[in-house]
Amino acid sequence: MSDQGDRAAAARVREVFLDAGFTADGLLSVLGASAYAGLGRGEPVPARRALQDRHDVTAELVRLFVLGDTVPRQDARRRLPLDDLVALGLVGGASEMRALVDVRPYGESDTDWYVVSDHGPDSAGHGQAEVSADHVLGVGGASLTLARITPRDLVERALDLGTGCGVQALHLGRHARQVVATDRNRRALRLAAITAALSGQEWDLREGSLFEPVGAETFDLVVSNPPFVISPGLRYTYRDGGFPADDLGRLLVQQSPPRLTDGGTAVILANWLHVHGEDWRDRVAGWVAGTGCDAWVAQREVQDPAQYVGLWLRDAGGLSEEPEARAEHDRRYAEWLDAFRHMDADGIGFGWIVLHRGGTYGAQGPRIEDVAQAPRQPRGDEVAALVAARAGWATYDAIALLDACPRRAPGLRIIEQERADDSGHLSALPPFVGLAEGWRGDSLADSVTVHLLRAFDGTTTLSDAVDDAAAAYGLDPDDVLPGALLTVRHLTETTHLHLP
Ligand SMILES: C[S@@+](CC[C@H](N)C(=O)[O-])C[C@H]1O[C@@H](n2cnc3c(N)ncnc32)[C@H](O)[C@@H]1O
Repeated sequence: MSDQGDRAAAARVREVFLDAGFTADGLLSVLGASAYAGLGRGEPVPARRALQDRHDVTAELVRLFVLGDTVPRQDARRRLPLDDLVALGLVGGASEMRALVDVRPYGESDTDWYVVSDHGPDSAGHGQAEVSADHVLGVGGASLTLARITPRDLVERALDLGTGCGVQALHLGRHARQVVATDRNRRALRLAAITAALSGQEWDLREGSLFEPVGAETFDLVVSNPPFVISPGLRYTYRDGGFPADDLGRLLVQQSPPRLTDGGTAVILANWLHVHGEDWRDRVAGWVAGTGCDAWVAQREVQDPAQYVGLWLRDAGGLSEEPEARAEHDRRYAEWLDAFRHMDADGIGFGWIVLHRGGTYGAQGPRIEDVAQAPRQPRGDEVAALVAARAGWATYDAIALLDACPRRAPGLRIIEQERADDSGHLSALPPFVGLAEGWRGDSLADSVTVHLLRAFDGTTTLSDAVDDAAAAYGLDPDDVLPGALLTVRHLTETTHLHLP
């Protein structure tokens, strides 16, 4: 935001938006459930019909910013703060006014925010145009994933690297005293500034690549939904980092730790290659090795190269049936596949990397896992619990562990099952263990694990529980102990168990 004038204009516009009920909840009540749901499917007709007899402020705002329709200048002047909307670059036109950017009511349950971004290729009223090179992306699936998994403890300083429309910074603004937001795209910073002002927040916005704009400053929390797409060239700033192969993820992981305060956390979305003959875990473990941070890497999806290229070519829009456009699309598709062949890539993993400075890295190694089968993504508090559990585990030495008294998590459940054979005889099936409403779902457990879990009421030592399980199954405690330690560590990290 360039000056006080713009900020004042944004404050006036915010007031008009709020008074008109142009908010995330307000839209639902203005349009009704059916028309509102239609918008989610990219079908604006029911919403247009719902508003056809309304000519008030709310209806004009929805027409302009939600439906992508035009509003006659005299109507806009009569009902809306037109000069402010034009000054901020939100609206333009001559006799018919039109939204120049996407302004979307957004928020948590008790906030009313506005996210300003470019119109997507599928935005209502904006056709199927291919997006421009400096396109500023709106709130998408990856944005929501990062917003969801970020721990929300109160912090002093937070950094949003690659802020784009500013959606992560909005969430950070609730629990960080100072928010620094960076982007390589100047246009993104301009739109992020309007997002902040329209949402009643103030951020320190800085232009530059990766950590360049923050130098050696440190943060309690760093979040990044970077341009992680592995692509040849640098076609769109929002998507292509312009680094070779999956180097963007590696660079972010390796450059974050010096910018974290002691105890600080970085949450980074990334894509990584599955190189033929190589375990992806080893590749990403190589990124985090030597960072001095504890690390949790979770892979939520893997796509093969063709799926991946198709996805990202569609994402940028511009796919028409015109023969020339079709040929250009196919040429880019083939070029991209060639690039993957040169990288020897079998697939591309999508996921997140959480770094924690102060967790003792080394002895326990990073936690690297596939979470594709999880019924849902974790919330920030669940991510924070995993990070804290790993840090807690690392403070125990072997002797102290044996004397520790783990406690089952309050929501822990052991699900026993039986199977009837043809004659009706019942036999036990392996049990499942899970957390009520846990994000990972239930997983199969062996009998010793279940025995240990039943023993861990917070008063029984690990050593006594192992002796007891060994006696129950006629085993030597020394044979049970190594496996039990691994199990307890795993269950502690997955927060099924708590160590005092
Ligand atoms: C996928 S968008 C994410 C936007 C937003 N933070 C979100 O969560 O939706 C990635 C952003 O990173 C910016 N970007 C691209 N290359 C960058 C770089 N080298 N350093 C910093 N930001 C970069 C892009 O301009 C874009 O705004």
